[in-house]
Amino acid sequence: MIKITYVTADGKEQPVEVEPGMSLMEVATLRGIDGIVAECGGGCSCATCHVYVDAPWHNTFEEPAPEEEALIEFLDEARPTSRLSCQLLLGAEHDGLCVRTPPSQG
Ligand code: FES
Repeated sequence: MIKITYVTADGKEQPVEVEPGMSLMEVATLRGIDGIVAECGGGCSCATCHVYVDAPWHNTFEEPAPEEEALIEFLDEARPTSRLSCQLLLGAEHDGLCVRTPPSQG
């Protein structure tokens, strides 16, 4: 099991323990995490699963595909550490991971 924490824009911490293998978005929707909407269910087309993956975690995931980069480019709240959580697969190396969700997603 690995422990990951989702933090909303207003600072609410939501820690969960999961088996590696799912995406950050899948874990969030299964566990009812605030701040991740995931309207398209992981199809990389809605961008409502937007998260900020700050240092030291940003480089622990695969580089974004062009479709993901294109969606992020159009987000008002995009930052250099923005990712779409449906594209981020969790592995054993992500134990302790902390991600933040943007203000517009609650
Ligand atoms: S769930 Fe829609 S882009 Fe990630």
